[in-house]
Amino acid sequence: MSELLGVAVLGAGHMGTDHIRRIDQVVSGARVAAVADPDTGRAKDAVAGIDGASVHTEVPAALDAPGVQAVLIASPGPAHEEALLAAFERGLPVLCEKPLVPESAGALRVVEAEARLGRRLAQVGFMRRYDAEYQRLKSLLDGGRLGRPLMLHCTHRNVSSPPGFTSAMLVNSSVSHEIDAARWLLGQELTAVTVLRPRPSSNAPESLLDPQFVVFETADGALVDVEVFVNCGFGYQVRCEAVCESGSARIGDEHAMVVTTAGGANEEVAQDYLVRFADAYDREVQAWVDATRAGRVTGPSVWDGYAASAVAEAGVRALENGGRVTVELAPRPDLYA
Ligand SMILES: NC(=O)c1ccc[n+]([C@@H]2O[C@H](COP(=O)([O-])OP(=O)(O)OC[C@H]3O[C@@H](n4cnc5c(N)ncnc54)[C@H](O)[C@@H]3O)[C@@H](O)[C@H]2O)c1
Repeated sequence: MSELLGVAVLGAGHMGTDHIRRIDQVVSGARVAAVADPDTGRAKDAVAGIDGASVHTEVPAALDAPGVQAVLIASPGPAHEEALLAAFERGLPVLCEKPLVPESAGALRVVEAEARLGRRLAQVGFMRRYDAEYQRLKSLLDGGRLGRPLMLHCTHRNVSSPPGFTSAMLVNSSVSHEIDAARWLLGQELTAVTVLRPRPSSNAPESLLDPQFVVFETADGALVDVEVFVNCGFGYQVRCEAVCESGSARIGDEHAMVVTTAGGANEEVAQDYLVRFADAYDREVQAWVDATRAGRVTGPSVWDGYAASAVAEAGVRALENGGRVTVELAPRPDLYA
């Protein structure tokens, strides 16, 4: 393909606007051909100054707009299923922001729809798989030098939670990234979840259970724990330590600029994910564009998206009911073997 890949971006909020900027200014081989958002003002602002990008309020109009060859879904999770199925009907390749679909039943319908097509069309936006530190940890674990992984200790902290953030969202929105990262790093499904609830921080909005301590069991007997704390107040921190039979490896320690002045030194801490994972988002979208132009689909599959939604759903049940909840997964279609 010699021409630029024409991308329709669905949703022009935080992520959509950032992806539009990325496609327009950072990534090579693609252009923004259309944008859809029920909030026309947002959509127009997001593509201001971009030649040839049409603005729509309805998703089908954006998918059918001239020059659209692929779709980047950055609308809220509950809108993803309809958008994915509409893209599949048109044979359009998709990069869908996480979650694939928040409810596992809807995510499974997407898996089944793609399996019926008999070929992969969609990739899910679990961008940590494109982060340089995560990639180093993955190749270290896969290389076997540290022996079998026994545990992952993970930390996921945000400065503050946005309005409307619920206790369930700590598990099914924030921890969804750790769910995918753990499945990918360990190469195993997560089979059971327990959520422990320390006393909430007095800095958390009233009735928000924040922080939480989530423990996953894996199919091969490893344990994954996640401290998720979305009103920590000081920074966006994502860490992961793999403890293996012959050693451990940790990523996510800050390696930002250190400013030293009289009496002390001060190390920068990223304040949000768009900063911490900026390179990962760039690599993710570039890899998607490159693969799409070559007629291939790589990256996290809709099966990965479904599994993450199913684990997150079990996690929310564990949070609400207490105790240990097992994860039920449908049979995996051959397409994702
Ligand atoms: N990968 C990551 O690290 C990461 C980080 C944040 C958000 N996300 C995901 O990105 C997606 C968007 O999140 P956000 O933070 O940008 O939300 P947002 O609320 O800032 O923006 C969502 C936008 O979508 C628009 N919208 C609503 N319904 C729509 C529809 N049916 N079709 C098209 N547009 C529609 C809204 O008007 C809004 O402008 C979510 O799936 C979220 O989980 C991913």
